[in-house]
Amino acid sequence: MAQSKELPQFPEPFWREIDIPNYPKLVEGMKVDVGIVGGGIVGITTAYLLAKQNVTVALLDAGRILNGTTGHTTAKITAQHGLIYDEFIQHFGEEKAKLYYEAQMEAKEFVEATAKELDINCDLEEQDAIIYTNSDDYVNQLETEKKAYDTLGIDSELTDSIPLKVQHKLALIMKNQAQFHPLKFLSVLAKEAVKHGAQIFENTTAVDVEYNKHPAIITREGHRVICGNIFVASHFPFYDGQGFYPARMYAERAYVLAIKSKKNYPGGMYITAEEPTRSLRSITINGEEAWLVIGDNHKTGQGKSTIEHYKALQDFAEAHIGVEEILYRWSAQDLTTLDKLPYIGRISEEEDKIFVATGFRKWGMSNGILAAKIISDKILGHENPYTELFSPSRFQTDPSLRKFARINADVAKHLIKGKLEFTDNSIKSLSKDDATVTRINGKRAGVYKDPEDKYHCVDTTCTHMGCEVEWNSGERTWDCPCHGSRFSYTGEVVEGPAKRPLERIDLE
Ligand code: FES
Repeated sequence: MAQSKELPQFPEPFWREIDIPNYPKLVEGMKVDVGIVGGGIVGITTAYLLAKQNVTVALLDAGRILNGTTGHTTAKITAQHGLIYDEFIQHFGEEKAKLYYEAQMEAKEFVEATAKELDINCDLEEQDAIIYTNSDDYVNQLETEKKAYDTLGIDSELTDSIPLKVQHKLALIMKNQAQFHPLKFLSVLAKEAVKHGAQIFENTTAVDVEYNKHPAIITREGHRVICGNIFVASHFPFYDGQGFYPARMYAERAYVLAIKSKKNYPGGMYITAEEPTRSLRSITINGEEAWLVIGDNHKTGQGKSTIEHYKALQDFAEAHIGVEEILYRWSAQDLTTLDKLPYIGRISEEEDKIFVATGFRKWGMSNGILAAKIISDKILGHENPYTELFSPSRFQTDPSLRKFARINADVAKHLIKGKLEFTDNSIKSLSKDDATVTRINGKRAGVYKDPEDKYHCVDTTCTHMGCEVEWNSGERTWDCPCHGSRFSYTGEVVEGPAKRPLERIDLE
């Protein structure tokens, strides 16, 4: 087959190309010690940790396990999460900034120790994490960040020469970080969890929680999973528990290309300090080395046509790497909290048998493992040094409150903008595999024309809180700019917090 420098027609994460067993759908009510909602890195790791300690666990996933953000990650396991340590020292103090770093490194050690213990071949390798800049504005910031690293005792180096052949003025290296194949690792953890008695249910959508002495997860079919504790590990919390999560986070998307190049990968995991973000790591595909090129983040449902983001990465790769073939493309969504620290712990003060983990700001591998450790320790009654730092009920006056106002102003803007916007795009002029927003019977409607000339029409009002969804041409989904819900072109929920599909409109 001829090699193609074109973008693959459909998004498909490379990680999913391994055999992952199917798990059954829940068909009746049950009672367990812990009910977990969400089969990503957090849910699977927690199920594994708890089941090993003879805790009875039921894990529910709305689709297939490991097919949400975890299945679309770039799988760097690092404590270098952009330029954050100086900021954390300023906002939270040295002690907490150091705890954040140590928590991430402990997560890395957990992956290493578990891979060894269970003999998992998951392409785990140590790599340095490198943040570089070619902008004068960021040179100072990198120098300041290096001082923060030194204050916190982080093994690092500031250099103006990195092995990657891109123009750069300065780079900050965090030594001995790691990368792996996340699904090779986590699919084994899922099997181990089941071996220890955990039950995993796929295609089982949790829609609500009944909170009382014995809280219960309610599924779409009306089955009740009565639990001692519930862990909401569904990325965006499917249940809010009076924690006001939609007002405390925003969603961003990022794009990934897997590229074959004549150039050998120089080693290291890279990310730019400035925007648009460009991030790189190596990967092995069919026994051959390839490059992952990642970046072009933007708020979900906002900005240019999403396929343009892939094209921007393609241009970068052509210019700096030399593209022989684009093997895969995919994208991922993640959530950022008000103060950039994840929310891990009790969902709210009022509902103390329900836990949540969310808001990993694209650094879900280490934060995901960390969340599983914190919550399983909490349930098992073990001390965990990081509990307080990540508690969702923490109150930070600065910068949280300002951002709180900004996030909600943005949501309000999209609520209003979507309603007033007048569109007169004609459905008839639509090309195949394209979509438009129009009005049908006075209602704002989204119409997608598939490659077989069939039209699919939905009411564009998001079923979460009523914002108007926008077309995502890269993934063929309708994405909500307010809290990041995503829907297939037929209206089915791809990503929450929305639980109900978009209303379908009959065009006949
Ligand atoms: Fe909240 Fe759409 S995701 S309104």
